[in-house]
Amino acid sequence: MAGGGIAGAPGVGKNYPGKLTAKVLTTCIVAAFGGLIFGYDLGISGGVTSMDSFLSQFFPSVYAKESSVTASDDQYCKFDSEKLTFFTSSLYIAALASSIVASSITRKMGRRVTMMLGGLLFFIGAIINAAANHVWMLYFGRILLGFGIGCANQSVPIYVSEMAPYKYRGALNIMFQMSITIGILVANLLNYFFAKIPGGWGWRLSLGGAFVPALIILVGSFFLSETPNSLIEREKYDEAKEFLLKIRGVDNVDEEFNDLVAASEASRKVKHPWANITKRQYRPQLTMAIFIPLFQQLTGMNVFVFYAPVLFKTMGFGANASLMSALITSIVNMVATLVSIFSVDKYGRRTLFLEGGIQMFICQMVMTVAIAVKFGTTGNPGVLPQWYATLVVVAMCIYIAGFAWSWGPLGWLVPSEIFPLEIRSAAQSINVSVNMLLTFVVAQVFTAMLCHMKFGLFIFFSVWVVIMTIFIHKLLPETKGVPIEEMNIVWQKHPFWRKYVKPAEDRDECEMGGKTPSV
Ligand code: BGC
Repeated sequence: MAGGGIAGAPGVGKNYPGKLTAKVLTTCIVAAFGGLIFGYDLGISGGVTSMDSFLSQFFPSVYAKESSVTASDDQYCKFDSEKLTFFTSSLYIAALASSIVASSITRKMGRRVTMMLGGLLFFIGAIINAAANHVWMLYFGRILLGFGIGCANQSVPIYVSEMAPYKYRGALNIMFQMSITIGILVANLLNYFFAKIPGGWGWRLSLGGAFVPALIILVGSFFLSETPNSLIEREKYDEAKEFLLKIRGVDNVDEEFNDLVAASEASRKVKHPWANITKRQYRPQLTMAIFIPLFQQLTGMNVFVFYAPVLFKTMGFGANASLMSALITSIVNMVATLVSIFSVDKYGRRTLFLEGGIQMFICQMVMTVAIAVKFGTTGNPGVLPQWYATLVVVAMCIYIAGFAWSWGPLGWLVPSEIFPLEIRSAAQSINVSVNMLLTFVVAQVFTAMLCHMKFGLFIFFSVWVVIMTIFIHKLLPETKGVPIEEMNIVWQKHPFWRKYVKPAEDRDECEMGGKTPSV
C-alpha cells in the first residue's frame, strides 16, 4: 500500500524517505492490541469489584460492609480492604517486575519473542481468572496478566517506533494511548452488561474477556517480522537492508540504514547505560523519566479508572447508576484523547499540559466541596438529590477530559521523544517502572486513603496537580516539531537546564573540570 512520500522533519534534522506501507500499518494494529490489553485490564477490575456476586464469593467481609445500609455506616470506609485492592494492584507490581526482565529479552531475543510471551502469559492469566474458585486463583491470574503487560508495554512501543517512518512516530505513539482508552471503555461496557446476567456469574465473562485481545496479539505476533534494528543488532545486515526497503516502500534507504548501523554500533559501546544516565549532562532526561510518570499517576486519574463504580457507589449511587456513570467517564476519556491527537503538534505539549493541569485542579476543587458538603467527615450523606449527582458526574467528566488531552498521552509521548539513543533503553525502563510502581501504589492505597482522608483525598491529588503544573511551567521546554536527534538544543537553550547540557564539543572539558562554563 502506498502513501505519499514523507516530508522531512521541520527545519532541521534527517529526512529519511519512506511511505506508510501495509507492513507499517500492521504494526499500528499490533500497537493497538498492545494498548487494548493494557486498557482492558485497567478498566475491568473497578466494575468487577463492585459486583455483589463477585464480592460475596471472594471478599465476604467487604460485601457485608458494603451491603449494609444502616444510618451510622461510614460510606468512606465501606470498600476499605487491602485484600480487595490487592486484586487490582497486584497486576501492576508484576508488570513492574516483568518490564525490567522484558528489556533484556527484547534486546537479546528480539521484540517479537517478547510480544509473543506477553500474549501467552496474558492468555493464561485471563483463563485462570475466568475459572477462579478461590481468591489465590484471582491473584495468580492477575499476576500473570501483569507479567504479560510488562512484556507488551516494553516491546510494543519499541517495535512501533522502530518500524514507523520518522514522520508518523508521534501520531502512532498517541494511538497507543488511544487504544488504552478504548480498552478501558470496552471493559466498562462489558462490565455494564455482564453485571446484569442472572445468576451473578457475569464477572467470569468480564475477567475472561481479556483472552480475546491476548489471543490476537499471540497469533498476530507469529506473523510479524522482526524490526530492521533488531536484525542489525544481531548482525544480519543484508536481511535488515532488504527488509527496510520493503517496509519503507522506496528504492533507496541508505541514509536511514547507515544511521541505524551507526546507532547500533554506538549503543554496543555503551557498556553501562544505567551508569551513563546518571551523568550530569543527562540530568534533564533523568528528571523527566522519573517525574513525568510519577506526576501522571499523582493526578489521581486512576482513582477513577479503577474505582469509578466503587466511588459512585460510595457516594450513594445505585449499582446500575454506578456502572453507567463509569461508562460515561470512559467515553469522555476516549473522545478527549482525540483532541490531543489533533492538537499536540499544533499547540504544543506545554500548552496542553498547562491547560489540562488548571482544568483538573478546578474540577478537583468542585468535587472536594461537593463531597465535603454532603458527606462531611462522618461519611453519612443522607438522601442524595439529583442535582448533586449530576454536579459530581459533570465535574468528574471535565476533570477526565483534562487528563485525557494532557497527562494521559503526554505522559508516554514526551519521555519517548526526549531520550537520546545512548540512554534510551535505561531511561525507558525507568519511565515504565516508575509508572507501574505509582499505578500500584494508587491502586493499593486508594480505598484506605478514602477511608482515612475522606474528602481530603481529592485535596491531596489537587496539591500534586498544582506542583506538577508549576514543574512543567518551569522545567519542561517545548518539544513540538523538534527532531529527536536535535533534542539537545532545547535543553541547551532552557534557562534552567542549560547549565547541565552543553554542546558536545564543550562537554569533556566541562565534565573533567567539574566547573560550569559560561553559556
Ligand atoms: C495511564 C494509565 C491510565 C490511562 C487512562 C494512561 O496514560 O498510564 O495509568 O489509566 O492513561 O486513560
